[in-house]
Amino acid sequence: MARLRVLVTRRWPAEVEARLAEMCDATFNVGDVPMDGAALALAMADYDVLCPTVSDRIDAAVIAGGNRVKLIANYGVGFDHIDLTMARAKGIAVTNTPGVLTDATADIALTLLLMAARRAGEGERELRAGKWSGWRPTHLVGSALKDKVLGCVGFGRIAQATARRAHHGFGMKVAYYARRPAEADVEAEFMPYLKDLLAKADFVSLHVPGGPETANLIDAAAIAAMKPGSYLINTARGGVLDHGALAAALRSGHLAGAGLDVYPAEPQVPAELLDIENIVLLPHLGSANSQTRIAMGMCALANVRAFASGATLPNPIP
Ligand code: DGY
Repeated sequence: MARLRVLVTRRWPAEVEARLAEMCDATFNVGDVPMDGAALALAMADYDVLCPTVSDRIDAAVIAGGNRVKLIANYGVGFDHIDLTMARAKGIAVTNTPGVLTDATADIALTLLLMAARRAGEGERELRAGKWSGWRPTHLVGSALKDKVLGCVGFGRIAQATARRAHHGFGMKVAYYARRPAEADVEAEFMPYLKDLLAKADFVSLHVPGGPETANLIDAAAIAAMKPGSYLINTARGGVLDHGALAAALRSGHLAGAGLDVYPAEPQVPAELLDIENIVLLPHLGSANSQTRIAMGMCALANVRAFASGATLPNPIP
């Protein structure tokens, strides 16, 4: 196999880096310091393959930086951080790592849902601050999950895995909004109109890809359409949600709680959320278990290997 020059923009699990180093001339970001646009643009002229991840912004200016890179093998399933139009125009293939992080992300959606419903973040903060005054019937009372409706916005792999957990694990009913009915192995009601789903669901969980088509999908009007006393969970992308409107709905009591794992300009977290008690805020942990992170790396590596040998790419983004 030709020794391709490959740049990996952030640290990967050690075993994946070792495997990549065996098969190509790989450069690793040993300090794991985020690369800025200028450094990424320079890399486009120096390497055959760029392996970025979801926190790198691979915009038109970066892609225009050079003509050598012919594969962008993203470590991650989401690709709204990559300018696909520009990549296509320059004949650069782009791949991602679908499938391998489905269960991990669904686990985090349920973590957020449970934490919000049972007020776990509030309880932990109270206890650590030495403010817990003891058990009492009215202390931090949350919501049950059984027979409540989980409303999934989008019903792809991760949404369905979330729905299975919610239904089989917690006795929730499932409804979903999507462009068309999905073949799913969990009982779920298809709702063709988003506003109907929002009015029906006790827990709304977002599962649409990021990007211009879904930007601000859950805006102030959508939040107003949610059932009073319901909860909002987001493990998809931050840009899907109007955080100012969410903050207002939590403060007014229209929503009972929320749980977020993603934000529009990570690692910044919208400041208006930070002092609200009934919201759980996680630092983009959806895929963060070691088995999943290794599987994501091996998946990115399979795309690099296929590219090196001229084989069909396993996970091309069309
Ligand atoms: C992805 O791969 O797009 C996820 O957001 C990472 O957890």
